[in-house]
Amino acid sequence: MKYDPASMKNYSSAHEGFVEHYQAAPPWDIGRPQTPFLTVSDQIESPVLDVGCGTGSTSIFFAAKGHDVTGIDFVEKAIQLAQAKAAGKDLSVRFLVKDAMTLVSWDERFSSVIDSGLFHVYTGAEQKQEQKLYVQGLAHVLKPGGRLFLLSFTEEAPEGGISRQALSDVFADGWEVESIRQVVGEINPAFLAEHSEAFPAGGPKMWFAVIRRLPC
Ligand SMILES: C[S@@+](CC[C@H](N)C(=O)[O-])C[C@H]1O[C@@H](n2cnc3c(N)ncnc32)[C@H](O)[C@@H]1O
Repeated sequence: MKYDPASMKNYSSAHEGFVEHYQAAPPWDIGRPQTPFLTVSDQIESPVLDVGCGTGSTSIFFAAKGHDVTGIDFVEKAIQLAQAKAAGKDLSVRFLVKDAMTLVSWDERFSSVIDSGLFHVYTGAEQKQEQKLYVQGLAHVLKPGGRLFLLSFTEEAPEGGISRQALSDVFADGWEVESIRQVVGEINPAFLAEHSEAFPAGGPKMWFAVIRRLPC
């Protein structure tokens, strides 16, 4: 069957769309962190929150580097797969079923937050309220001086995303955007082989941003 990268918009909620995508191996599930996160390894500080952690590969990677990591996702199946991957490994990593829209009332605090593909789910015109709530939640859980490492589709990606200027504007107050660079998102090779027509050659264009939470 032909895969439509914009298919997430066809569901009545983001949750329903992601539950459906986890019925099979989803395109983003490459079994390791997206490469830009490897380039900032030395800037990651514990405790780490991996928000929208999916099946946990990025969380497990940083836990294996000695970090204390919490991965959250609102899809139960993704969290079960993440827990299974971490089982038996002597790592400081835990996975929780949790909606990112509830960060704003969470009593946990983190020195680093990793967002590998969650923010851009909420960049559409009709998701302004959710995007605002999510960014408020990030500001709440990130310790002052802590960093958000964010990978998001650009506005040119077939799935829809955000422009560089709009991304900077979202983090204009209470944050310092330290860097934004354009990168290419990696797709699960097995998925790509089956649906090569669904993605631009080389992969979708993405922004990789490092954003510091300013002390209040
Ligand atoms: C594009 S996938 C990326 C998954 C993982 N970070 C990775 O790099 O493989 C986005 C993830 O965010 C999760 N997600 C989307 N909205 C969420 C929300 N409101 N709360 C928690 N998780 C959410 C989805 O279930 C999905 O696992």
